[in-house]
Amino acid sequence: MEQTERIGKGLQELETWVLPAIEGAGDPEALEQIRVRVLGRKGQLTEILRGLSAFPPEMRREVGQQANALKAHIEAKLQERQQGLRVALHEGLAVRDAIDITLPGRPVRRGSLHPLTATLYEIVEIFQHLGFSVAEGPEVELDYYNFEALNIPKDHPARDMQDTFYVTDEVLLRTHTSPVQIRVMEAQTPPVRIVAPGRVYRRDADPTHSPMFHQVEGLLVDYGVSFADLKGTLQAFVDQFFGAGTRLRYRPSFFPFTEPSAEVDIACVMCKGTGCRVCKGSGFLEILGSGMVDPEVFRMVGYDPEITGFAFGMGVERIAMLRYGIDDIRLFFENDLRFLQQFPSL
Ligand code: DAH
Repeated sequence: MEQTERIGKGLQELETWVLPAIEGAGDPEALEQIRVRVLGRKGQLTEILRGLSAFPPEMRREVGQQANALKAHIEAKLQERQQGLRVALHEGLAVRDAIDITLPGRPVRRGSLHPLTATLYEIVEIFQHLGFSVAEGPEVELDYYNFEALNIPKDHPARDMQDTFYVTDEVLLRTHTSPVQIRVMEAQTPPVRIVAPGRVYRRDADPTHSPMFHQVEGLLVDYGVSFADLKGTLQAFVDQFFGAGTRLRYRPSFFPFTEPSAEVDIACVMCKGTGCRVCKGSGFLEILGSGMVDPEVFRMVGYDPEITGFAFGMGVERIAMLRYGIDDIRLFFENDLRFLQQFPSL
C-alpha cells in the first residue's frame, strides 16, 4: 500500500510540473525535451509504468489506471502545444514577410511632354484633321534631296541662307524638312497631302537660332490647286492653333522650289497687331515660308507638267516661343526642370 501511495504521489508531482511546462514551452525543441524527459525511453513516466509491471495485478490496477490516464493526458497536451507552436510559427512568418501597409507610399513621378514635342504633336494633329497624312525622312540627307531636287543647284546663292553641316561632299545634315517633299513625290503619284515633322540642322547659334531645331513641312499636290487653297489651309491652321480669327499677312518672297513664294506672318500674339516689343513694333511675326510648288520641282520627280500644288514649312520653336512667350530658344534644350515644369499639362 505504501508503495502505491508513493507512486500516486510521484504521479501527482509529475503532473504539477509537466503540464505547466508544456504550456510554457516556447518552441518545438523545448517541447521535445519535455517529452523525452517524461515519455522517452528513460522518461519519468516510462520508468513508473515499467516499475508497475513488477507489482501484483490488484495493486497494479488503480495506479496503473492513474498512470495511463496521466500519460494520455500528457500526450494530448503535448500534441495540442505542438499544434499551437506550429500556428504561431506560420503567423510569425506571415507577419515578417508581409507588406507593411502602414508605410507611406512612394509617389509615382509623372513626366510630361517637352513643350516642343507637345507643340509638334498639336501642329501635326491639326493638319491630320484637315486630311493630311504624316511622312518622315532622314536627318542625314543627300545633297540631292536637300538642295538639287529642290531647284537649288550647287553654286546657287540660295544655299548661303542655310549654313550647312556637311558629312561628305554629297551627304549633309538636312537644313530643312523640304527634302521629304521630294522623297514622298518620288514614292507616290498625285494626289499628295502630307505633313513632315522633324529635326533640321544649321550652323547657327544665338538667342533665336539653335544649330538643331524643328520644322513641319506641308505639301499638297493635285490638279487645279491654287494659292487660295494655300491661304485657306493656313488660315484653318492658325484659327485652330492660335485662336479663331487670327490674322495672317502674306509677304512676297523667294524660294527656289516655289513660284510664287510668300513668307507668312501672324498678327502679333502680344499686341494683336498694334506693335510692341515682341514684334519689334511691326505688329506681325513671321511663322513660315510657303508658295506654289515650282514646275521645275515636279519635273525633277517626273510628275505631269500640268500638275499643281502648294507647300509650306514652319519653324516649331518659333511657333512655341510665340505661343508661350519664350524669349530665348536655348531654354528648350538646356533641360532645366525649372523651365520644363512650367508646361505640366502638355
Ligand atoms: N524650307 C524653307 C526653309 O527652311 C521653308 C519653306 C519655304 C518650305 C517655302 C516650303 C516652302 O515648303 O514652300 O527656310
